Formats: sequence, C-alpha cells, structure tokens
Amino acid sequence: MYKVVLLVIFFSCGQDLGNSLSDASANSIRSINRADGDLSNGALRYSQHCASCHNSDGSGTSSGPNIQSKSDAQILNAVLNGKGAMPAITSLSVDEIEDIAAVFDTF
Ligand code: HEC
Repeated sequence: MYKVVLLVIFFSCGQDLGNSLSDASANSIRSINRADGDLSNGALRYSQHCASCHNSDGSGTSSGPNIQSKSDAQILNAVLNGKGAMPAITSLSVDEIEDIAAVFDTF
C-alpha cells in the first residue's frame, strides 16, 4: 500500500511539471530557433495572422513595416508582447511562432 501511495505521488508530480511547462509564463521565457520551425504550418499561420500588415513576403504594407531581416528574438518579442501599433497576438503558442519564424528564411 505504501508503495502505491508513493507511485501516485510520483505520477502526480510529473503531471504538474507537464502543465507548468506549457503555461503562459513558461512560454514567455522560451526562445525560438527558426531552423526547428515547421515551414508549412508557419506559412499558414503567417498568412492568417501577419500578412495583412506585413505583406505575404514580409516587405510591409501601409499597416506594418518590412520585417524581412528581423531576428528570431525580435519576432518572438513582437508577437508575444506587441510593439508600437502592433498588438500582441495571444492566440499563437511559442511553437507556432517558431513555425512562423521559419517562413522568414523564405522571404
Ligand atoms: C495590425 C497589424 C499587424 C499585424 C497583424 C502584425 N504586425 Fe508585426 N508590426 C506591426 C507594426 C505597425 C510594427 C512596427 C512596430 C514599431 O516598431 O513601432 C510591427 C513590427 C513587427 C516586427 C519588428 C519588431 C522589431 O523589434 O523591430 C516583427 C518581427 C513583427 N512585427 C512580426 C509580426 C508577425 C510574425 C506577425 C504575425 C504573427 C505580425 N507581426 C502581425 C503591425 C502588425
């Protein structure tokens, strides 16, 4: 019985760790690497969330500047926190932002 209780405690600790790694505060300290991004998902997300202001090739529109040469850190920060007239885009996970960053290599 004692062993069973220990096992339950062990597994519930594992569960808590899993949850805390995926919550928003853990996301905000993560960094991204465009080489790890999924290009096809990123292209879809970019067209849905970014192209209206930054154009399909990142060259900019009247609503947003050219972002073709921005770094991974600048992309992550702009999307998580917003910048100037750009709102934070809170519906995207850090993994999805990493996918979007992969698209910047195709600009
Ligand atoms: C509503 C229009 C709008 C949308 C949608 C938008 N942006 Fe922006 N973005 C802007 C504007 C405006 C700026 C310039 C902000 C400034 O420097 O004041 C900007 C700046 C940036 C920058 C430059 C940040 C820096 O540090 O210089 C990056 C990178 C960026 N956006 C990425 C994205 C990505 C990726 C998406 C989609 C997930 C996106 N933006 C969606 C308007 C938008």
